[in-house]
Amino acid sequence: MPHLDQVLNDIDKDLDNSLQRLFAWLRIPSISTDPAYKADCRGAAEWLAGDLSAMGFAASLRDTPGHPVVVAHLPKPGAPHVLFYGHYDVQPVDPLDLWEAPPFEPRMATLSDGRKVISARGACDDKGQVMTFIEACRAYKVTTGSLPVGITMMIEGEEESGSINLPAFVQANREELKADVALVCDTGMWDRDTPAITASLRGLAYYEVIVRCADRDLHSGLFGGAARNPIHVLSRIVADLHDDSGRIAIPGFYEGVREMPREVLEQWKKLDLTPEDFLGQVGLRIPAGEKDRLLIEQIQSRPTCDANGIVGGYTGEGTKTVIAGEASAKISFRLVGDQDPAHVGEVFERFVRARIPDDCSVEIVRHKGSKAIQLPHDMPVLKKAQAALSDEWGTDTVTIGSGGSIPIVGDFKRTLGLDTLLVGFGLDDDRVHSPNEKYDLTSFHKGTRSWARILAAIGA
Ligand code: BES
Ligand code: MN
Ligand code: MN
Repeated sequence: MPHLDQVLNDIDKDLDNSLQRLFAWLRIPSISTDPAYKADCRGAAEWLAGDLSAMGFAASLRDTPGHPVVVAHLPKPGAPHVLFYGHYDVQPVDPLDLWEAPPFEPRMATLSDGRKVISARGACDDKGQVMTFIEACRAYKVTTGSLPVGITMMIEGEEESGSINLPAFVQANREELKADVALVCDTGMWDRDTPAITASLRGLAYYEVIVRCADRDLHSGLFGGAARNPIHVLSRIVADLHDDSGRIAIPGFYEGVREMPREVLEQWKKLDLTPEDFLGQVGLRIPAGEKDRLLIEQIQSRPTCDANGIVGGYTGEGTKTVIAGEASAKISFRLVGDQDPAHVGEVFERFVRARIPDDCSVEIVRHKGSKAIQLPHDMPVLKKAQAALSDEWGTDTVTIGSGGSIPIVGDFKRTLGLDTLLVGFGLDDDRVHSPNEKYDLTSFHKGTRSWARILAAIGA
C-alpha cells in the first residue's frame, strides 16, 4: 500500500481543519422527527453535498416523501466499489436544561480523566462517525489524487425516525447503488482501546397502545369503584409483559430466537462484562433482564421489551380527583435471530386484547418494524478490516453483536445483494440520544486513520 503512510500523515496534520469541518456540520440542527426542523435537515444535506462536491464527488440531493438523501459518486474503474451509508439526522435534544452547553454549538471539552471530547448533538451519532470516513477519503484524495476504491455514498436524513422512505429509495435506485460491499460507520468499539466489528444488530418492533374506557374523564368520587380505570388496565398489560425471571411472557414471542453457538458464548464469557462496569456508568448495578443469561447476552443476543413512555389522567400541578377516559403507552421490542416483526405484532395484539374488559376498547398502532441482522462470518472484507483496525489500534479486533438497530442494513442484502461491514468508533459513555452527547477526539482521529487503512486494504 504505497501511499498509506503519507495519507496517515496528512490526516494527523489536518486534524484541526477536519474538526472545523465537522463543527460546521454539527451546527445545523437536523432533527428528523420534529417537523419544525425540516429546513435544517435539508440544510445539513446541502452542507454535506457541498463538502463532497468540493472533494470531487458527483454529489446531489435526492428528494423523498420525507427528508432528502445525499448520494455521491466517485468511481474507480477496475477497482472494487463500496457503498458507504450513514445518517445526517440527529435525535431531539430534550430535556434541554440538562445540557452543559447548547447542543448545536459544538466545542471541545476535557473530561475529568483528561480525555478530550467533541461535545454536541450528533458528535457521535452519526455526523462525527460519518466524518471519519469522509476525512479519510479527503486525505487520500489530497495526498494521492485519487481513492483506492470506487465509492458511492448514501447519507440519509431519516434514520432516527425509522428510515421509513429509504427502502423504496434503495429499490428505485438499485442500479445506481450497485457495489461489491456496503460500509457503515454507526456502531461502537468494544472499549476505549479495543476496536470492534459488529456482526449482528437487533431488529425493532414498535407499537402504541391506547386504552379507552369511559367516554369522558370522570369524578373519582362519584364514579370511583364502579368505572373502569384505563390507567389500571394499561398498567396491568405493562406489568404482565415480563415474568419474575425477566422473561417476556407473551405466548409465541420467542419464536425464531436462536441460541448463540458455544464458541461465541465462550468468547463472550472471556470478555467478562460485569454489571459494575456496564451498569455502574449509569448509576445502576442489578441487571434487569432474563436471570439465567449473561449480561452480554441480555444486551446483544436476547430479545427485549420496553415501555418507552406512558401517559394518562392528570399529571399537572396539585391534585385532581379524576378517572381518566383513556391512557396510552409506547411499547417496543428489540428482536433477534429470525423473529418476524409481523408475527410479534400478532402475538402482542392478542396479548393486549385479552386484557381489555368487554366494555372498554383498545387501539394498537403498529409502526414499521425491522428484522434482526446477522452478517456472515466469512465475508472477504472482514479479515482485511480486522487487520487494518488491529494495525491502527495496536491490539486484536473483536467481533461483537450490537443491541441497537440500523433498519436499512437488511435492505442492502435483500434489495442490493450486499453484505455490510459495520465498523464504528462510538463508546458506551458517548451519551448518544441523551443530553451532553460527545465523541472522543481519539475516536474521531484514529477512526479516520482506521478508515484510511481499511480503504487501502480493500483496494489492494
Ligand atoms: N447508531 C444507532 C444504532 C446503534 C447504536 C448501533 C449503538 C450500534 C450501537 C442508530 O442511530 C439508532 O439510534 N437506531 C435506532 C433505530 C430506530 C430509530 C429505528 C435505534 O436503535 O433505536
Ligand atoms: Mn446512528
Ligand atoms: Mn441513533
